[in-house]
Amino acid sequence: MRTQVVIIGSGPSGLLLGQLLTGAGIDNVILDRVGKDYILGRVRAGVLEEGTVGLLDKAGSGERMHAEGLPHDGFSLTFDGRDHRIDLFGLSGGKRVMVYGQTEVTRDLMEQRGKAGAPTIYDATDVEPRNFDGEAPFVTYVKDGVSHRIDCDFIAGCDGYHGVSRRSVPEGAIRTFEKVYPFGWLGVLADVPPVDHELIYANHPRGFALCSMRSLTRSRYYIQCSLDEKTEDWSDDRFWDELRCRLPAHHAEALVTGASFEKSIAPLRSFVAEPMRFGRLFLVGDAAHIVPPTGAKGLNLAASDVHYLFSGLAEHYRDRSDAGIEAYSARALARVWKAVRFSWWMTTMLHRFPDTGDFGQKIQEAELDYLTHSRAASTALAENYVGLPF
Ligand code: APR
Ligand code: PHB
Repeated sequence: MRTQVVIIGSGPSGLLLGQLLTGAGIDNVILDRVGKDYILGRVRAGVLEEGTVGLLDKAGSGERMHAEGLPHDGFSLTFDGRDHRIDLFGLSGGKRVMVYGQTEVTRDLMEQRGKAGAPTIYDATDVEPRNFDGEAPFVTYVKDGVSHRIDCDFIAGCDGYHGVSRRSVPEGAIRTFEKVYPFGWLGVLADVPPVDHELIYANHPRGFALCSMRSLTRSRYYIQCSLDEKTEDWSDDRFWDELRCRLPAHHAEALVTGASFEKSIAPLRSFVAEPMRFGRLFLVGDAAHIVPPTGAKGLNLAASDVHYLFSGLAEHYRDRSDAGIEAYSARALARVWKAVRFSWWMTTMLHRFPDTGDFGQKIQEAELDYLTHSRAASTALAENYVGLPF
């Protein structure tokens, strides 16, 4: 088989890139090692920047998001028992974010791809990008015990942190940067109305908490936990009690609780691989970088990578210019590092660290007090939260 672009990975990065390419008349095939239901079973963050919303629209995949997503003009930072609203809309010159789950984004993109008739090969094992240093790359894989080969012009490695693309690059050609945080997030999903109409990021001496949502009837809550915690030790009642402790009294009283239907612990890490292009292989999204979820930048960064790569590929086929392809890694990384910095900063300011003690807590409270009372500081927060331009 032959195509123009082989996309490894059918997560949001691969699907969004695929839709944009298909829309521009560029043939592509997506390969994933798992099936559709498995992919749609993953629970991830749910805050979309305007740039991401714009790309989903461009991909023809925005209809349900606009109908069911919740536009948010601000969020709350709580500390010292009080609420401090960050007016995203006012501080960013009229920008807002869209609260819409990543699972729904993925579902919409899959549906759109199905309608366009573009091929996705699920349950493809032993996927391997090959010969990407030369002019004639190809990808091999096994499906139902039979080996296949797809020849192509380019390979997009959209296969997440554990994928094969980054691992296929010779060790000496890639540099990685990593920071592992000494805690995780215990998250639950429950069909209860959100405690507030906006998100709440809480700094508390017992640890960070986040009140988020998927809809007006489905809430997503998180509490910081130590990495050796087990979900089995967290009954719903224990979770709700701990969350209440970490919120100001008026939110704790308003919290509606109920049975959770998903409960998981995620570690927090920052990771970047440089560069993001190796000849005719490109790394995109989680394959190249991971951010801690504080600030919800993961999916949005995947979207900006896709934007840069798509424009480079479109230029290649339309204008016969490789300038965009040559610039891909530097353009993507410049934005990636700013989001890595922002997610690290929000994480550092809002979580309890095991080694900083009460001094650390006081410094955080002073920073939060400054942040919420200085227009300059809140403007910088808002500008990053709604998403830097791309
Ligand atoms: N071969 C084929 N497919 C693979 C392989 C492999 N060896 N390894 C992984 N995959 C597939 C996975 O099954 C998954 O469906 O690649 C896909 C990667 O999807 P994601 O992990 O969702 O990565 P990405 O599309 O870059 O999405 C970024 O996801 O983790 C969040 O915070 C992140 O929101 C951001 C978004
Ligand atoms: C979520 O809704 O899952 C979410 C929202 C905001 C974040 C992280 C996660 O910063």
